[in-house]
Amino acid sequence: MRTHLCGLLDEQHVGQQVSLAGWVLSRRDHGGVGFIDLRDRSGHVQVVVDPDRPESFAVADTLRHEYVIRVSGSVRARPEGTANAELKTGQIEVLAESIELLNRSEALPFQMDDSEIGEATRLKYRYLDLRRPRMQQTIRMRHRIIATLRRFLEERDFVEVETPVLTRSTPEGARDYLVPSRTHPGEFFALPQSPQLFKQLLMVSGFERYFQIARCFRDEDLRADRQPEFTQLDMEVSFMEENEFMLLAEGLIRDCFRKILDVDLPDPFPRLSYSEAMALYGTDRPDLRIDLELVELTELMKDTGFKVFSGPANDPSGRVAALCIPGGNMMSRAQIDQYTEFVKQYGASGLAYIKINDAPGERAGLQSPILKFLSDATLEQVIDRTCARKGDLVCFGAGKASVVNASLGALRQRVGQDLEMLEPGWRPLWVVDFPLVEWDETMRRWQSLHHPFTAPRPEHLGMLDNDPGQVRSQAYDLVLNGVELGGGSVRIHESALQQRIFNMLDIDDLEAREKFGFLLEGLKFGAPPHGGIAFGIDRLVAMICELESIRDVIAFPKTQKAFCMLTEAPNRIGPGQLRDLGLRLENPTGTGTAT
Ligand code: AMO
Ligand code: AMP
Repeated sequence: MRTHLCGLLDEQHVGQQVSLAGWVLSRRDHGGVGFIDLRDRSGHVQVVVDPDRPESFAVADTLRHEYVIRVSGSVRARPEGTANAELKTGQIEVLAESIELLNRSEALPFQMDDSEIGEATRLKYRYLDLRRPRMQQTIRMRHRIIATLRRFLEERDFVEVETPVLTRSTPEGARDYLVPSRTHPGEFFALPQSPQLFKQLLMVSGFERYFQIARCFRDEDLRADRQPEFTQLDMEVSFMEENEFMLLAEGLIRDCFRKILDVDLPDPFPRLSYSEAMALYGTDRPDLRIDLELVELTELMKDTGFKVFSGPANDPSGRVAALCIPGGNMMSRAQIDQYTEFVKQYGASGLAYIKINDAPGERAGLQSPILKFLSDATLEQVIDRTCARKGDLVCFGAGKASVVNASLGALRQRVGQDLEMLEPGWRPLWVVDFPLVEWDETMRRWQSLHHPFTAPRPEHLGMLDNDPGQVRSQAYDLVLNGVELGGGSVRIHESALQQRIFNMLDIDDLEAREKFGFLLEGLKFGAPPHGGIAFGIDRLVAMICELESIRDVIAFPKTQKAFCMLTEAPNRIGPGQLRDLGLRLENPTGTGTAT
């Protein structure tokens, strides 16, 4: 249908006959001459329609935005003074000899440029939204990133294997999406939260190096970086120790950044233990672009008379810590109140602070509602340990360590953003040495920090029975600029140990057999030592494209309420289908279409 792409034409083509096909970006008339900007996937070019050719001119006259046409004509240099230096095709134009209308378009719900449009409209007309230059670039970039990752793995002898979507529940910590079975009335498939169990079984099968661009499904509370269905680059290898595998996995990410962005990430990536990450940043996914650290004050506050601090300092699960904000004493009372409200969202009961108004050392130079509760010696230590200087603001968190970490960790990130303390660039790191399990107070049982297939450190096996909380795992998370990009671990490859871990997690033999019997069975037949990781592709693409929401890097995403605006799914099904599936609805009218 065509000989050339619009956006690739330039002076080299002057004098050539070309046929183009695409969409009408715009049309104008100047002194009886028609001008059409014709766009295809490569860009656009100016087409000139001379009134000397009445047939073409008549067609041109009917054209509207986004009509689809085919143009044949010759390329010529634009006349003196009409060149457009900003456009790749700005030196030339195509003089139309014939114009064929291939299809019409109704008036569009929004313009095809990069103007801001409400997300609801964009998602309803996603196919048009995707036609816009920004989305075209993003989706093409996503393709390039995936192609780069694939190439890296193929060159290293990884084999791509697809695993089922209709399967059993996989424990990644979210709710399952379920699919009723017609052939097994009353029974359900679960959509995979990840291909975890299948990839481990592929190691039992002897593939040794597996990967998959895998769709995962999780029914969880959605955020800007979470979708109910999302894509992982899922990997698993056999006969590789933790360190060797981490170097391979970071090599993959380094290669991607070099090829896509021409950026050299550090080699190797720095590593931080889980406990260091919590102590310094209050989170296991710290944004290292912000040069702020939490300062430990628990010991110091044990003997203070100020109960808000001494209580948690003497509680084994408590913590007292400070965050020194450089230049923060400029903050108004209202601003500090805002931050206090902010930390309350994370469970904190308040946000004590000291303003350093004058050279520290003198009580008179300090301003704070809690000054009267703290002795000179304590104040001196606080100033010393936080390295606070004139002009700073020292904020305090005291309470359960989990609350102090969550609230001061979030405050660090928020203040870093508000005060524009984010250093430019990319700061990857591995977080390692995670606890294998943590105590869940509401369920009153141990829970895996990652998933129950994660191997404990061999040297910690002795503590499994009497001090599980102290056992560290062979898990690793890759964090980039405060985003958890991937997580994985060395796995348990012995059936007996896997069974022991299930028991520790209060999954009894019956439940273990029922849920994961096939894995326990598989591990008995010569399962090799193995481990792997999964990277969130949507998050990786969003970061590279510098977009806030992963919805902007997914061709057809769901809303925050897990609804597809385009197809209006999920939707109700008819009584016939329900009968086939052996289902009856408790509330047949439902609550209607939610967005
Ligand atoms: P995990 O649950 O940590 O590990 O998931 C791996 C990575 O997937 C991304 N991710 C998500 N992205 C978008 N929306 C979501 N709802 C979502 N949930 C997770 C994150 C995360 O780091 N089977 C293990 C991996 C393994 O052990 O090999 C797993 O799925 O970037
Ligand atoms: P109060 O004695 O409760 O009025 O608190 C005195 C100061 O300590 C106030 O500035 C509170 O915001 C702050 N504060 C109260 N509870 C905490 C807490 N758990 N951590 C940090 N600061 C707190």
